[in-house]
Amino acid sequence: MEDGSGNGRPPATAAAWNFEPNGALLGLTALSVRGVLGRVKAGMAAGGGGDGGGGGGRAVIPMGHGDPSVFPCFRTTADAVDAVAAALRSGEHNSYSSCVGLEPARRSIARYLSRDLPYELSADDVYLTSGCAQAIEIICSVLARPGANILCPRPGYLFHEARAVFNGMEVRYFDLLPESGWEVDLDGVQELADKNTVAMVIINPGNPCGNVYTSEHLAKVAETAKKLGIFVIADEVYAHLTFGQNKFVPMGVFGSVAPVLTLGSISKRWVVPGWRLGWIVTSDPNGVFQRTKVV
Ligand SMILES: Cc1ncc(COP(=O)(O)O)c(C=O)c1O
Repeated sequence: MEDGSGNGRPPATAAAWNFEPNGALLGLTALSVRGVLGRVKAGMAAGGGGDGGGGGGRAVIPMGHGDPSVFPCFRTTADAVDAVAAALRSGEHNSYSSCVGLEPARRSIARYLSRDLPYELSADDVYLTSGCAQAIEIICSVLARPGANILCPRPGYLFHEARAVFNGMEVRYFDLLPESGWEVDLDGVQELADKNTVAMVIINPGNPCGNVYTSEHLAKVAETAKKLGIFVIADEVYAHLTFGQNKFVPMGVFGSVAPVLTLGSISKRWVVPGWRLGWIVTSDPNGVFQRTKVV
């Protein structure tokens, strides 16, 4: 049989290919919330019902939908839409920008984040990225060196692990403790860390648990990081989106105890995940990142 190209060669079988998926990454996606949701939805669709909703004739409320912007009741402010449209029409932003992002945007983000901090950030502390996802990618690329390991929360957001693994870093998992509001098991963190540990990741407000850490707990996280000689990567993409009693406190408040890389974006709070604007911020009033040449 020919392969359709008319060259008379037998069709290639999978075994003949020289490539295959990265097994470490396949393992990570198997148990993601989105992966499980996909399987549940497939089961519902198989149940049929003819209404297209996959509910076997019953109305389906998509509570597992991670992106509210698809629903018309969640729209970002018209001011933001007008500003973006005006910027596009002006023709002044069609060229390559500097690789760290436009200075006025960095300055605005510095000013906005400084409102919750005991010190002032400057535009030089802010690096613009294509969403928080690219911020995670960049950090993992910067940190990866042979033998390095990074501490990630369990349960957590799989993209941190995926990017770390992709960059050849070892991922070690510390537990979040359900009985204490999904706080970090700080004793566990100390047991996991060694001289090759470079950083620990916290996600606050948390994904997937929805917890919001108290200031007291964040202070302990910072003290632990300082003791271990590591820095904190604070994924704050859900900043200010809180449920329950705890007010959002940025990890950067404790940046003078241990240096913090704060990650964020406009995706969640402004309900525009498709706009792809995020940031990495050095919340490090003592300049440790400069001294260690991380930035
Ligand atoms: C904890 C966490 N970090 C980062 C991201 C990525 O955010 P962005 O859409 O800004 O890339 C998400 C998206 O769901 C998230 O849940």
